[in-house]
Order: sequence, then C-alpha cells, then structure tokens
Amino acid sequence: MTFLYDWFSNNIPVWEKALKRFRNKENLLFLEIGCFEGKATLWLVENILTHPTSKIVVVDTFQGGEDQIYFGVQTNNLLSKFKTNLKSYISKNPKTSKVIIKKGFSGKVLRSLNDHFDFIYIDGSHIAKDVLEDIVLSWGLLKDDGVMVFDDYGWDRYKDETLNPRPAINCFLRIYKGWYKILNSGYQLTVQKKDKKSSMDKFTKTTYENLVLTDTFFKEQINKQVDSIKFMKVIKDSKFYKLWRIYCNLKDTLKINKYK
Ligand SMILES: C[S@@+](CC[C@H](N)C(=O)[O-])C[C@H]1O[C@@H](n2cnc3c(N)ncnc32)[C@H](O)[C@@H]1O
Repeated sequence: MTFLYDWFSNNIPVWEKALKRFRNKENLLFLEIGCFEGKATLWLVENILTHPTSKIVVVDTFQGGEDQIYFGVQTNNLLSKFKTNLKSYISKNPKTSKVIIKKGFSGKVLRSLNDHFDFIYIDGSHIAKDVLEDIVLSWGLLKDDGVMVFDDYGWDRYKDETLNPRPAINCFLRIYKGWYKILNSGYQLTVQKKDKKSSMDKFTKTTYENLVLTDTFFKEQINKQVDSIKFMKVIKDSKFYKLWRIYCNLKDTLKINKYK
C-alpha cells in the first residue's frame, strides 16, 4: 500500500461511534467526496461496509485540491495510488465493484448522481463556495436518518475565511436548522438528516448556539474592538458570556486566543 499522508486516523474513535449502526449491514451505499490516496475509503470498506452487498462511491479529480498544491502536498499519480491501495475492492464492472470511482469535479459529478446514500463524507475542495456547493448538492442525495461528516470544520489556515470550509458549514447549519441533528462537533462536524422540520434536541441546540450564533457575535466584536480589555467588557456584559467561555475551549475555531 502507498500512503504518503494520513489525514484520517485521528477521526476513527468518533467515526466508530457515529457509524456503528451501519457495521456489516447489507445494501448500504456510502459517498466520499475527495478520497485522495484512499485512507478513509479503506477504513470504511474494512470496518463498516463489510457486508458483500454494501458499496462506496468516491468522487475526486485526482489532481489534488488548490490548498494541497499550494502547500506542496504530493499529488502525482493519485488515481493509480488510490487504485493500488484499494485494489482488493475494485473490479472493472461497476455492478460488482465494492468501490466505484467517479473521476471529476464534484460540482459536475454530484449533479449526475441519482442514488441515495446512507453516509456522505465531505472532504473535497476546502474553498468555502465549493464546500457549500458540495453540501447542498449532496444533502439532497442523503437518505433520511443518513449521516454526513464535514471534514476540517476547525481548519482556519487562511486569513480570508472564504478559503476555509467553516463559513460554508456554518451557513448550512443556519439554513438547514431543524432538518438535522448534530451527532458530534470537534475538528470535524457530524450530523444526521432528519426527515421533517423538528425542534432541535438539547445537544444540537447547545452545540448550534456555541458554534454558529457565537461565531457571528464574537467575530463582530473582534472586528469592532481594538484592545482586549474593551473586548472582554463587551463580552462579559453580553448574554453570550457563558458561551464565550465554552467557545474559548473549542480548539481550532477562530484565531481569538489573544483575547483570552
Ligand atoms: C483532503 S483530500 C481527501 C482526503 C481523504 N478523504 C482521506 O481521508 O484520506 C482532498 C481531495 O479532494 C480532491 N478535490 C479537491 N477539489 C475537488 C473538487 N472540486 N472535486 C473533486 N475532488 C476534489 C483532491 O484531489 C484531494 O484528493
């Protein structure tokens, strides 16, 4: 096997919990947007999609994302690396293959899919507008009660937030409020699709408030305030103070450490 990078193994404990109800079930269909060398794909086929009738569709340009190219990640021969790593699960006939490869830009490939999926992993382009498009297009392909994982929710590598996935994921959380349940929130975010608009359960409501409402409020304050003393006064006087304390404990969110 050829894995030069491992951006997946850290997620295994959370994925095991979120996906245990799928383990070895028949006729499952999963979708991974951005499969790269196949690290997550391999884990899924070996640990969750173990029933012979269950499959995964992977979508990738196999050219690497813009950020990967920028940061010098090796992206040559990605498709052949993926095929080598998953060779036991790929056959030429898509009807019998456990792993089905769709090479191309997700914006195009997703529009051509008619299947409905039990699980969707969003890990393709990290540019906010692309992430938003991937989420909206694939949400319609997710079955009720299906699970969706957004990678790199805590990724804030670029100062220009439109280059990070987070604003797109927060946008989804706001607009689709009531149509999902948050299962886990950390560096990744995991949600489950609800079939009708329902009131949020307590965990989802608290997590939503922590992540989305406070995100906007704190950002506004950060932009307005020039020094940390004034900033903290506004926060302390606001109804968000309690949330601010929780927010500060969320690692990898905004670059707000200087105000702690
Ligand atoms: C972070 S990697 C995926 C890692 C993989 N999920 C894993 O866990 O090992 C992102 C992948 O998305 C692909 N990608 C980037 N932009 C894309 C786009 N617009 N459409 C399809 N694939 C894209 C890249 O080629 C790259 O292989």
